[in-house]
Amino acid sequence: MSNSLSLVICLITIINLLSNATRMVGCDLAVNWRKIGEDLSEYRLMKQAAEIGHLAQCLLSADNTSEAVWYSSHNRTCHEFVCNRGPNGCRKCRNAIRADATVTQVWIRAQPSGQFNCWKTFQHRVSSNLSFDKNWTDYSTGFGLEEADNFWLGLEQIHQLTKHRGRRVRWELSDWDKKWYWTENFNFTVSGPEDKYRAVIGEFDSAASSIGQAMTTSDVGIQGNQFSTPDSDNDLSPDDCALERRGGWWFGYCTYFNPNGIYFDYPTALSVHYTQMPMMYHCDGCPSPLGQSYSLRTVECMIEHWMP
Ligand SMILES: *[C@@H]1O[C@H](CO)[C@@H](O)[C@H](O)[C@H]1NC(C)=O
Ligand SMILES: *[C@@H]1O[C@H](CO)[C@@H](O)[C@H](O)[C@H]1NC(C)=O
Ligand SMILES: *[C@@H]1O[C@H](CO)[C@@H](O)[C@H](O)[C@H]1NC(C)=O
Ligand SMILES: *[C@@H]1O[C@H](CO)[C@@H](O)[C@H](O)[C@H]1NC(C)=O
Ligand SMILES: *[C@@H]1O[C@H](CO)[C@@H](O)[C@H](O)[C@H]1NC(C)=O
Repeated sequence: MSNSLSLVICLITIINLLSNATRMVGCDLAVNWRKIGEDLSEYRLMKQAAEIGHLAQCLLSADNTSEAVWYSSHNRTCHEFVCNRGPNGCRKCRNAIRADATVTQVWIRAQPSGQFNCWKTFQHRVSSNLSFDKNWTDYSTGFGLEEADNFWLGLEQIHQLTKHRGRRVRWELSDWDKKWYWTENFNFTVSGPEDKYRAVIGEFDSAASSIGQAMTTSDVGIQGNQFSTPDSDNDLSPDDCALERRGGWWFGYCTYFNPNGIYFDYPTALSVHYTQMPMMYHCDGCPSPLGQSYSLRTVECMIEHWMP
């Protein structure tokens, strides 16, 4: 944020929020917290404190682990939330930019870097009603409804977002018991169309992951692989992975993670065979039920982004 913008926000914060706090406190709050629309369904209420006189006091007294704070002036209660999907996992850009009545206006804390980051969705599966068996043109330009629904952003946009510097990438899964799993890698970049949108991916960040990785080797991960679609075979295998697996991906020989594969509904999804090309995630030491004979309920792939 530019200095002049942060000063303006600082002054607005002082005028709007503070009755008896000092000017300095107002500036700290403006730098450390930001008000956004947020869907709180991925969070859990960690604590609530009544008889808090004003918002500034609520923010100042918040635990350093709470990620979102909501102050109700009606009952003077300060509500503090933590994310249910690991630290910093809940902050989806698609919620941050919404201002409609379905999301609550909350205050979120700056990350240790001082930035307000969010996750920009580039892939999302939520139901069987949209096939991801699409051609090269569709995968290049994108398809689907919106980030919260079945969605593929498009390789060209993923390339544009990652070409200047590698971005952190997050893979978020859920099973049919609605249990959630997530993993993150550093430094994800996707090259341009002349190189068939090759993926280069940095180390697996075990501290920000709840399960093992399936991404950093090229044979069954995505590392160094070009993108393949059913009509454009650029994988490492003598087989045509994308044609067999019915969807595009950075296939090697072929993959342990098949997020654009076939969406199986419950209860078939619980006991598929990998040759049926399910939407699977398989890794060494992955918890049950994940694996090659289980088709996930949801998958979402996201790139670190800066809040609008
Ligand atoms: C958060 O607060 C606890 C004590 O309440 C302290 O031990 C810890 O170092 C703090 N963490 C950060 C990141 O400031
Ligand atoms: C305070 O009021 C809000 C509605 O403004 C309500 O959602 C919340 O549960 C209340 N908190 C307490 C502790 O009563
Ligand atoms: C597909 O399913 C999703 C999630 O249930 C829904 O939001 C969307 O409207 C459906 N799309 C069509 C075309 O039916
Ligand atoms: C790709 O598929 C779309 C429909 O999804 C179709 O309109 C288009 O002609 C196809 N392009 C090629 C090159 O096959
Ligand atoms: C990410 O890339 C940057 C520069 O390209 C490098 O300095 C950094 O060490 C990389 N981080 C990891 C964890 O790979």
